[in-house]
Amino acid sequence: MVNVAVVGVGGWGKNLARNYAQIPDARLKYICDLNPRALAACARLCPESAPTESFDRVLDDGEIDAVVVATTGETHYALCKKALEAGKDVFVEKPFVLDVAHAEELIALAEARGRILMVGHLLEYHPVVEKLRVLRESLGRIYYIYSQRLNLGTVREDENALWNFAPHDISVILYLLERTPTRVAATGQSYLQPGIEDVVFLTLYFGDEAMAHVHVSWLDPHKVRRMTIVGSEKMAVFDDLAPTEKLKVYDKGARVNTDYNSFAEYVSLRFGDITIPYLKMAEPLRLECEHFLACVRERRRPLSDGLDGLNVVRVLTAAQRSLKDNGAPVSLS
Ligand SMILES: NC(=O)c1ccc[n+]([C@@H]2O[C@H](COP(=O)([O-])OP(=O)(O)OC[C@H]3O[C@@H](n4cnc5c(N)ncnc54)[C@H](O)[C@@H]3O)[C@@H](O)[C@H]2O)c1
Repeated sequence: MVNVAVVGVGGWGKNLARNYAQIPDARLKYICDLNPRALAACARLCPESAPTESFDRVLDDGEIDAVVVATTGETHYALCKKALEAGKDVFVEKPFVLDVAHAEELIALAEARGRILMVGHLLEYHPVVEKLRVLRESLGRIYYIYSQRLNLGTVREDENALWNFAPHDISVILYLLERTPTRVAATGQSYLQPGIEDVVFLTLYFGDEAMAHVHVSWLDPHKVRRMTIVGSEKMAVFDDLAPTEKLKVYDKGARVNTDYNSFAEYVSLRFGDITIPYLKMAEPLRLECEHFLACVRERRRPLSDGLDGLNVVRVLTAAQRSLKDNGAPVSLS
């Protein structure tokens, strides 16, 4: 049995709390929040957990094995540091932290204390992404990936659309390409609040011609959560809003011929079947929570560990610099 405390039970944290309360081999001992209203609302969902406004009470409890941090991004570093120093395993929501040096410090701290550190890159636990990893080789060389995460939805005051939405897309792109970008460039605009971009267009370059593009916005008429992967052999589309059939694989492609007499023969196009792979669907959040618990129990490195979090924070920080510099590319090498 793993004893867990969830810290920050606002809009998202209460979903984490609900999951830990329901998983049989976890005991959600505390829910913790500075806001009594958020705490009371979550206490109704998790009546067996002790509500507390005191983070120190959670850390002082020797029974607590793991702390789940789901507060707003700017508080992640301080709370994770305290929890690791108190000897707790830590799960922290995305964005991991807001600063590369903070990410490196937390990774070193977790390592030194022999603690598990996991970052909430939820989509890495999505059955479609898991399937895409299996199918990856069959797509051939991945030429490019583009994704859109758009809606007319919750406007945040603590972070822009890049830091709020793009960690999901970036983490999947790095996971699928199995490498980090050498250069990024981002443009965006703030319409609703000064200095907080509502829409961001981010491009990632991987040095070997592979590239990716991420379009995020909370000021858009469409609700879209879609990623398209274009490979040399096949192409795939992950549409997270499709009720079923979230993944489609297109046996389509184009090949440049070396032996040709006319331009018509230079490029040959291939139009094959569209397949919908079978997926055993489960709630990604539940899978993510179960993964964290398994890592705590078995002392193994999470899929989205601190290094994974650091790689995403590196991209976000470079993208933020580019954003402030009107889209000038920022090198990451
Ligand atoms: N994985 C996902 O799909 C997903 C979705 C939404 C949000 N998130 C992430 O979850 C985190 C929380 O987002 P949210 O939308 O729930 O924000 P929120 O503002 O609704 O909730 C944050 C809560 O944290 C509490 N809090 C802040 N500082 C605290 C502290 N020092 N101690 C205890 N409680 C504190 C606040 O009182 C608030 O109730 C963010 O990092 C966000 O990016 C992830």
